[in-house]
Amino acid sequence: MKKNILYAIALAVSFVGCSRPQDKRTEIENKVETLLHKMTLEEKLGQMNQLSPWNFEELADRVRKGEVGSILNVVNSEEINKIQNIAVEESRLGIPILVSRDVIHGYKTIFPIPLGQAATFNPEVVEKGARVAAVEASADGIRWTFAPMIDVSRDPRWGRIAESCGEDPYLNAVMGTAMIKGFQGDSLNDPTAIAACAKHFVAYGASEGGKDYNSTFIPERVLRNVYLPPFKAAVDAGCATFMTSFNDNDGIPGTANKFVLKDILRDEWKFDGMVVTDWTSTAEMINHGFCTDGKDAAEKSVNAGVDMEMVSETFIKNLKQSVAEGKVSMETIDNAVRNILRLKFRLGLFENPYIVTPQSVKYAEEHLLAAKTAAEQSVILLKNDAQTLPLTDKVKTVAVVGPMADAPYEQMGTWVFDGEKEHTQTPLKAIREMYGDKVNVIFEQGLAYSRDKNTSGIAKAVNAARRADVVVCFVGEESILSGEAHSLANLDLQGAQSQLIKSLAATGKPVVTVVMAGRQLTISDEVEASDAVLYSFHPGTMGGPAIADILFGKVNPSGKTPVTFPRMTGQAPIYYAHNNTGRPANPTEMLIDEIPVEAGQTSVGCRSFYLDAGNSPLFPFGYGLSYTNFEYSDLKLASDKLTVDGEVNVSVNLKNAGKYDGTEVVQLYVQDKVGSVTRPVKELKAFQRVELKAGESKTVTFSLPVSDLAFWRYDMSYGVEAGDFKLWVGTNSAEGLSAEFSVMN
Ligand code: NOJ
Repeated sequence: MKKNILYAIALAVSFVGCSRPQDKRTEIENKVETLLHKMTLEEKLGQMNQLSPWNFEELADRVRKGEVGSILNVVNSEEINKIQNIAVEESRLGIPILVSRDVIHGYKTIFPIPLGQAATFNPEVVEKGARVAAVEASADGIRWTFAPMIDVSRDPRWGRIAESCGEDPYLNAVMGTAMIKGFQGDSLNDPTAIAACAKHFVAYGASEGGKDYNSTFIPERVLRNVYLPPFKAAVDAGCATFMTSFNDNDGIPGTANKFVLKDILRDEWKFDGMVVTDWTSTAEMINHGFCTDGKDAAEKSVNAGVDMEMVSETFIKNLKQSVAEGKVSMETIDNAVRNILRLKFRLGLFENPYIVTPQSVKYAEEHLLAAKTAAEQSVILLKNDAQTLPLTDKVKTVAVVGPMADAPYEQMGTWVFDGEKEHTQTPLKAIREMYGDKVNVIFEQGLAYSRDKNTSGIAKAVNAARRADVVVCFVGEESILSGEAHSLANLDLQGAQSQLIKSLAATGKPVVTVVMAGRQLTISDEVEASDAVLYSFHPGTMGGPAIADILFGKVNPSGKTPVTFPRMTGQAPIYYAHNNTGRPANPTEMLIDEIPVEAGQTSVGCRSFYLDAGNSPLFPFGYGLSYTNFEYSDLKLASDKLTVDGEVNVSVNLKNAGKYDGTEVVQLYVQDKVGSVTRPVKELKAFQRVELKAGESKTVTFSLPVSDLAFWRYDMSYGVEAGDFKLWVGTNSAEGLSAEFSVMN
């Protein structure tokens, strides 16, 4: 009998523990409805209000009155627990507060900037980074982050390219998905899970002229083919929230764009998460000349499908009247509040409003190791003449030079509100600590900071170079030069950094240039002057040890460019997946210095290129060398005649033909040769990181569903078009073995 009772209890417990997702959903929906029915209109508008408080007492008072649904930028765990206690115990309905923060590429342990993470082409590493960030942030009570930013970014003038995963829709989709998984973990209900936010919806990355917040002019087809796919992937990955964008696209600000917020996001994609505005973007619609006042802005925004307003408080101040006037329906308000409450229930905030994760997780050993791995894989070897790298035993003295060699704050990059420079390990520190017993290290900064124009320190740096066997020069951008509102019209290295590199090169000593920046810079001359170049973007807390191990050959670089590198700023926007013109450039075009004086108008050929910059980039998308040498051979297509429901099965032999073990990112590109609308010259469709020992070979296979070749066609239907295709498998977007196939209906 007793046994039976125990068995029944165990069964009941196991049922509760394994409640089916459908049951869980229904349970949450029921709770949402029950709570919603108890709420006054004022309380509903309170839930739709997000504040960035300056004054604790004022915040406490408003929370008590039910005027706040979420806060951002409070990171003091004691204050958060106090506020939560007021919300739960002292507000009429006890609805917990949703605490948010921009945790973009780490909370305390800072990972490489997202652009650097994209360069790893390794979603596992990226997912781990987001998981670490979530564990650390949740230790301070943060349960919602405003990441990933999955704005396709094709213009390095735009400072926020740093925060993106680069120019490619597919890469943004893969990396965005990885970040969402990492932030949200296995279940939002886990106390270490933080809700992700796909932003900025949408087309913000196309800001005209690369100037932040600027207008965009992206037609629906390009929106759907290029800018929306990462966001669709975010919905598929279960991303809990979306953020509207600042820009007006084709005249409609993102915060009132019903077409994208309702028709696409809700109706087509069935998103049941929550939509928040960007910071004061509702009120900013007045500046846009789209709304007359705050009330008009609130109405347009909420009627377009926004649920929560960040900071500008036009909802809470105006929507009661708008409802009374019939300009906003009660149903619209209720739907917004449903989306907010659903998220709070999903996060388990009602059961666990207080902080659960221990503080000790910050900068945990495991987190630092993960950040180091991410930094290692984010570094791109752009040049390595005469095998300058890795540094061998013959190198007895290294001159470490440059404004980024020992700049702990700067190497963390943009969007670091909580990382501390005291915990950052710089290259100088790492080289000294990790390799100081093998080499003599001389340090001469040369320039005080990246914008420094004072050249008086260069002579000392040159002198250090003369005394060394090799000079490693760390240049780049201070973190303030990229990120939000930090656009540039000139992408050359700032200050006297170029002069520094050239002066070092003039010594005749081998020069290794390491660039730490928030974007791809125009560095043709500096690459020319250097024997080897490593591009690391801003590598974060563990950048130093990662770079040190790469310099000394313990780690073989494997990063690939997630963006195309222009030769000159004027080439921007620049991206590999462009459409062809009717007059594509020939590789042999005559450039400006070769054109004879008084040349005839048409003598240089009427083709699409720049007279001064040509048509090719400095480095193509997907580019990155290794200390070893990978050889591709034997490309095989299982079939070159396929149907729309078939699969492109392709294999290639990859050999590590060099002396070092290494990892190659094998990339698959496809071109739809003729379409009902013009199609990109190639598009990345898949990639794999393949590890090979020196001398080892492997057959690498890809199975690409033909349905992945679908696009938005002439008549705005979505599908694959029958016809001829070309594919490439190779080491970057400009090289590769190719084959052709056709798709039949
Ligand atoms: C404005 C930025 O555009 C957005 O990305 C960020 O999440 C919010 N501010 C909150 O800080």
